[in-house]
Amino acid sequence: MGLEPFSPDSTIFRDESVLRDGYQPQRLIERDTELEQYQSALKPVINGAPPKNLFLYGQTGVGKTLSSRMVMDRLAEDQEEFDSVEVHVVSLNCKSLNSSYQVAANLINQFRPADDQIKPTGYPSGMIYNMLFEELDALDVTHCLIVLDEIDSIGNDDDILYKLPRANDNNNVENTFVGVIGISNDFTFRDSLSARVKDSLCDEEIHFPPYDANELGNILKQRAAEAFHDTSATRRDDGVYELESEILEDDVIPLCAAFAAQDSGSARQALKRLYKAGDLARDKEAEQITEAHVREADEIVERDKVREELTRLPTQSKLTLYGLLLLEQENEAPAKRSKIYERYVTAAKRIDADVRTDRTIHDCLSQLTLKGFLEVTEQNKGPKGGSYYEYEFSIRASLAQESLREDDRLSELFGESETTTLDSF
Ligand SMILES: Nc1ncnc2c1ncn2[C@@H]1O[C@H](COP(=O)(O)OP(=O)(O)OP(=O)(O)O)[C@@H](O)[C@H]1O
Ligand SMILES: [Mg+2]
Repeated sequence: MGLEPFSPDSTIFRDESVLRDGYQPQRLIERDTELEQYQSALKPVINGAPPKNLFLYGQTGVGKTLSSRMVMDRLAEDQEEFDSVEVHVVSLNCKSLNSSYQVAANLINQFRPADDQIKPTGYPSGMIYNMLFEELDALDVTHCLIVLDEIDSIGNDDDILYKLPRANDNNNVENTFVGVIGISNDFTFRDSLSARVKDSLCDEEIHFPPYDANELGNILKQRAAEAFHDTSATRRDDGVYELESEILEDDVIPLCAAFAAQDSGSARQALKRLYKAGDLARDKEAEQITEAHVREADEIVERDKVREELTRLPTQSKLTLYGLLLLEQENEAPAKRSKIYERYVTAAKRIDADVRTDRTIHDCLSQLTLKGFLEVTEQNKGPKGGSYYEYEFSIRASLAQESLREDDRLSELFGESETTTLDSF
């Protein structure tokens, strides 16, 4: 079979871009409490007073970025009515920036015209902050709000999260009120912020909890009405959407919502499932999206997510997983830590990696359990024997195997004979 001709589809999607990550819906639903908190924290701005600094946190996919974008858009619109305030908003995604210095340099460049940009390295750090303060002072506005999304990337080097929120108090910036809004999905980052940063950045903290299945269902219905042919949604007084569709079988949305709620309560994951289910129906030239499409989509989305997370693990954690994988092959799983450690040591030596202590591997196992890759059970050996823990995979072992094999360093651990043994898991 050669190439198939491209042909525009389809009877399924009216506008699939609605299901993609960057799409901004007309109306933000299911986040009333958080929006109220957010808008109320920005009230001082509209009253012409110095802004509060805010910290938004919550797991991935729960609407932090979207909410922030929509609140800022609204602020930009509404401030037109107030003569005495003029707010400038700068948004920066810090994902690829790993120091306070880089954040500061990127902010400076956002204020400067294209032909007057600074280089991203090479200035003493005191100087870079002064340049930033000068830009802020020179703005012809009353307030500047700086939104720093995915701020956890800067790790321990959090100087800027002290300097910027304190810019007015420390008289570094005198002509413009400066407010910072930090956003993060990393709970360890939040806990590890230094005391002085917590004090200055977190005037107000807004927590975005995971969505439950009902909330996810509503979010999906709102999108489905725009994304699919012959589908419409009406919003009832109590905020619940009712869907009518020729394309989606009745179970489709509740099932996507239930899978995503079980998984992590992320709207992103729920939308991915619905999009993938639509994709599968289109590929199969089906007239409707069915429950079976959703089940298949769920497996694919889950697999992609786990693989992505596995790929990002540090080598030591991968070697620990490899230790358990061997035990799984030998039918020795669930296994005690000491057994896993033995296998780990052999594997680490084979690829010339540092051999860490038993204690470190214990921490690795706890982390892997927290991340949902492993399951731990406590075994009691009777009244005198004490208790110990046993570990096993809570994801399919074959999935772990595939990802480890793709790792540059670990790939040599996989000989030809091991290639097929785990496929049945
Ligand atoms: N309440 C909501 N209504 C409609 N769509 C939503 C809602 N919450 C989230 N979404 C959608 O889910 C996806 C993820 O949302 P968003 O990017 O805001 O998450 P986030 O909390 O910033 O996640 P991360 O921590 O990974 O950056 C986006 O496509 C967004 O449009
Ligand atoms: Mg985000």
